[in-house]
Amino acid sequence: MTEKWTPRSWRSKPAKQIPNYPDSQKTLAVEEQLHQYPPLVFAGEVRELKQKLADVAEGKAFLLQGGDCAESFAEHNADTIRDFVRVFLQMAVVLTFGATKPVIKVGRIAGQFAKPRSNDMEVQNGIKLLSYRGDIVNGIEFDEASRVPDPERMIMVYRQSAATLNLLRAFAQNRCASLEKVHKWIFRFIEKSPQRERYEALMYRISETIEFMRAIGITVKNHSILGEASFFTSHEALLLGYEEAMTRIDFSTGSWYAMSGHMLWIGDRTRQLDHAHVEFCRGIKNPIGLKCGPSLKSDELLKLIDILNPENEPGKITLIARFGFNKIEKYFPALVRAVKCEGCKVIWSCDPMHGNTTTENAYKTRPFNRILCEMESFFNIHQAEGTHPGGVHIEMTGKNVTECTGGAYAISAEDLSDRYHTHCDPRLNADQALEFAFFVAALLKKDRDSQTLNE
Ligand code: PEP
Ligand code: CO
Repeated sequence: MTEKWTPRSWRSKPAKQIPNYPDSQKTLAVEEQLHQYPPLVFAGEVRELKQKLADVAEGKAFLLQGGDCAESFAEHNADTIRDFVRVFLQMAVVLTFGATKPVIKVGRIAGQFAKPRSNDMEVQNGIKLLSYRGDIVNGIEFDEASRVPDPERMIMVYRQSAATLNLLRAFAQNRCASLEKVHKWIFRFIEKSPQRERYEALMYRISETIEFMRAIGITVKNHSILGEASFFTSHEALLLGYEEAMTRIDFSTGSWYAMSGHMLWIGDRTRQLDHAHVEFCRGIKNPIGLKCGPSLKSDELLKLIDILNPENEPGKITLIARFGFNKIEKYFPALVRAVKCEGCKVIWSCDPMHGNTTTENAYKTRPFNRILCEMESFFNIHQAEGTHPGGVHIEMTGKNVTECTGGAYAISAEDLSDRYHTHCDPRLNADQALEFAFFVAALLKKDRDSQTLNE
């Protein structure tokens, strides 16, 4: 018999990646304070996202999930958020044309502050300190005081997430994001790109479509859908004290929802069947992502799906494959087959970032070619297995950083030091993110063409 779930039942399970706060009384007091605060998202919005994700699971829509590896207090300003949204919306339009399906936009934003780490300690010049675990836990500066976990940071995360969400909602509703505007931005990107000829065919189709719609009288003024962009938030459900404090009953349905973001995911390091993170996530109604890496076995995956989605509800589970360009062929097909054979209704999404991290000139980086290569394998495997490539999950920013090598501007290992700003993993910059979207759009089109051939 399944044990009773409560927002705090995770506390009796073993938990990885949760910091030891030196003052547990203060931590409890902060969590209690957070518990009194208004929710950041609303149950109705979460249900709307789940409905849209159900379409993705059925192959009728495509999921675009992305944003910072780790949001930070230092980079919290309107420009950063605006630049991210602009690039994300451009990617969504490009992917919509590739897929000829709605693209569901889910940011790694307004809550993505907690980081799992491979090592508890970090050593620099012979000095050993606690690892940085994201701004929600401790400071990135390499000194003893900054690295002490401080619960007050949870309050700062709550406030920053609320301010970010406020701006996102304004962008989504106030015609800041009309299709015509997004089209103009893409045009500007293409005009200056060294690889512009590669994008021209798709750009031509987008321009023609907009002209056609205008000709028959479909405009932002009479079709609000062209001026609005529904946008959802997501983050890793890692710091469970914070998540518990933000979990509330929705009185219209009597169900529990995590109100810290619309979608939460379980990381590759915290998905043990009998541990705290799986326990917490099994009780909330939000859509749940599950990172799937090379160490995940098929039977374990099926058990996880069963715990997290016992009703086999479409839209509830997004499996996020993150194997690495040189491992995906070996490990991924068996998981796809097992899930298909069991009849589980899931979305398969691809995170081509986390299995492709290398070090160059002492910087963590990701070669752009490997990211594309893993994406292509992901599509090929679905093609071979007769399943849907449902989405992408990437780390990106709207800024012109130099964190991943390669791309049309050929960022080299030597360039990395120019504008390396990430608080954790290397992100695609604005140009690389759009280039990535054009690449995936081409894969989506190929997928569509082959389906038409088989009909
Ligand atoms: C992440 O998404 O930032 C992350 C840590 O991923 P993973 O759990 O897949 O390593
Ligand atoms: Co990351």
